[in-house]
Amino acid sequence: MSAKYDDIYARSLADPEGFWAEAAEAIHWERRWDRVLDDSRAPFYRWFAGGVTNTCYNALDRHVEGGRADQTALIYDSPITGVVERFTYRELRDRVARVAGVLAEAGVEKGDRVLVYMPMVPEAVIAMLACARLGAVHSVVFGGFAASELAVRIDDATPKVVLSASCGIEPNRIVPYKPLLDEAIEIASHKPSRCVILQRPQEVADLAEGRDLDWVEAEASAEPQPCTWVEATDPLYILYTSGTTGQPKGIVRDNGGHLVALNWSMRNIYGVEPGEVYWAASDVGWVVGHSYIVYGPLIHGNTTVLFEGKPVGTPDAAVYWRVIAEHDVKVLFTAPTAFRAIKQQDPNGELIRPEQIAGLRTLFLAGERADPDTVQWAEDRLGVPVIDHWWQTETGWSICSNPAGIELMPIKHGSPTKPVPGWDVRVLDEAQREVAPGEIGALVARLPLPPGSFPTLWQAEERYREAYLEEFPGYYKTGDAGYIDEDGYVYVMTRTDDVINVAGHRLSTGQMEEVLAAHPDVAECAVVGVADELKGQTPLGLLVLNAGVERDHGAIQGEAVRLVREQIGPVASFKTAIVVGRLPKTRSGKILRGTVQKIADSEAYTVPPTIDDPAILPEIAESLRSAGYAGG
Ligand code: COA
Ligand code: AMP
Repeated sequence: MSAKYDDIYARSLADPEGFWAEAAEAIHWERRWDRVLDDSRAPFYRWFAGGVTNTCYNALDRHVEGGRADQTALIYDSPITGVVERFTYRELRDRVARVAGVLAEAGVEKGDRVLVYMPMVPEAVIAMLACARLGAVHSVVFGGFAASELAVRIDDATPKVVLSASCGIEPNRIVPYKPLLDEAIEIASHKPSRCVILQRPQEVADLAEGRDLDWVEAEASAEPQPCTWVEATDPLYILYTSGTTGQPKGIVRDNGGHLVALNWSMRNIYGVEPGEVYWAASDVGWVVGHSYIVYGPLIHGNTTVLFEGKPVGTPDAAVYWRVIAEHDVKVLFTAPTAFRAIKQQDPNGELIRPEQIAGLRTLFLAGERADPDTVQWAEDRLGVPVIDHWWQTETGWSICSNPAGIELMPIKHGSPTKPVPGWDVRVLDEAQREVAPGEIGALVARLPLPPGSFPTLWQAEERYREAYLEEFPGYYKTGDAGYIDEDGYVYVMTRTDDVINVAGHRLSTGQMEEVLAAHPDVAECAVVGVADELKGQTPLGLLVLNAGVERDHGAIQGEAVRLVREQIGPVASFKTAIVVGRLPKTRSGKILRGTVQKIADSEAYTVPPTIDDPAILPEIAESLRSAGYAGG
């Protein structure tokens, strides 16, 4: 049935070096690699060691020189501002070269870090590619994070320059970015020497004399820069993602392996040909935006869509279909949440006009578990294959997918299908033994990971080893649990750590607990992810107050919600904190978060044998019930 996939998959594992060397032929190398896979420092592996290339050259210049100069590279579609703009490969290359000039004049050189804090405007893409052009390392921070989160990233990445804009635009408000940036720089110990600010007409920011430059003026007078050749193993970017604590993990991406893997994935996974329009409805602040708004489609010679809007409310639940029709989108990639939002507003799909989506071939979903109801709804309404695929910021591209470009295998709802070539996925128990088909365990991938996945954490190699490689020697621990069925289909069920997924955004409950614990009246707390019809999960905080605190609980709960919004950001969607008398714990003092979550979601649970005092569970259920949670 799936002979083509089986053969390709088997070859990718039997001869990874041959497999990826062949895929690497599609990339421009200024100097070819010495070794396809350098395993001399295993378990730290490097792909295409000795190779010299440039990611921006492969994404832009190569296509300009190779006959795509006048093809549209980027379509900026912004229902939130009413703007649609197109950039050819030549136009995009020229703007990127100039912005690279702005950076060069600010002293940015190969290896220097540049922080990008931008809304979904073309300049965000230009900023990333301008860094890549110079061999500088960008670190994009999502706009929905608070100033203190930005400050943590500034201190970790120590950027020479920040590229930002005056504001972002949300459906219900303008988000002034510049005051957030100023506050972050104030808090941070490291001070970037320059900030280049794109003034948007919706909100003009004050510029700090001597430090800040106006983007448009700086770009107009800048000297266009050529590509700087870099080692394949040099870092292209750092992208911070939630770990188990307040200190985010700086995921590092290299240049060579990333070029090869993303280019390969465009045809083999997404099934698109160069020249076709590909749309990832995500944000450049997330890994999906890095890989499939910016790098993948451009490296492969596609036209990419940069969408500044939401699936609903900008202006309505028909906007996706309008964008697909207007730009002739062949493949759409988004998060299940987006479809749940559309389904909520247009349950019968009455806003979907068949002629608008006639050109769409495939819908890909990722970022969170794709619930079968939503997948079924999308299949019925769109009449195209709906492909759930599983991946992570760490991996940079999918671990499991139905590889549409190789062959479309039968779809099983609830499963992202099978491992992608290059990924040797296993399920292990706590004793590191492989479990039988159908049995749940830790989802791991055998080392070495294929090109494109992260070689390390930014300046934290030991943390990389501890977090990902130590528990299951010889494997990468994904942090997800699940099972593989008799047919080899993988099912991703839940995280094994503190990470929750809220509207496809990855957040750490541990980090929220750190923020709540800092409230002067809070003695201890627990944050759990509870089921949410729209967002998949939302965080819920339980607070135990210090003895003797007699303040109004409502006021403390409100302060707790505000604290998380101020310290982490609105993206956390932390809307509810409840004061409780005590928290359920094991005899050794570990908070039973899983049990709390089950009670809140009215799921069946067994009283853990290690519980200190079972009488507490009905108390918690009662508190949850009175706060509007099922609590059954
Ligand atoms: N800058 C500033 N604030 C932002 C932001 C940004 N770039 N993105 C989101 N926020 C804010 C929102 O305004 C909201 O604030 P509020 O609490 O004041 O309303 C908060 O962060 C939560 O945002 P979000 O999770 O997007 O929820 P929402 O209720 O505004 O919208 C959906 C719900 C389903 C429409 C939205 O989550 C969505 O489009 N999801 C698609 C999934 C997706 O793109 N995932 C990316 C990974 S593939
Ligand atoms: P992120 O790093 O933000 O991409 O989040 C990665 C996490 O999201 C994974 O570890 C999973 O927990 C979850 N995830 C992503 N894609 C899927 C999927 N297709 N099915 C289930 N969970 C997913």
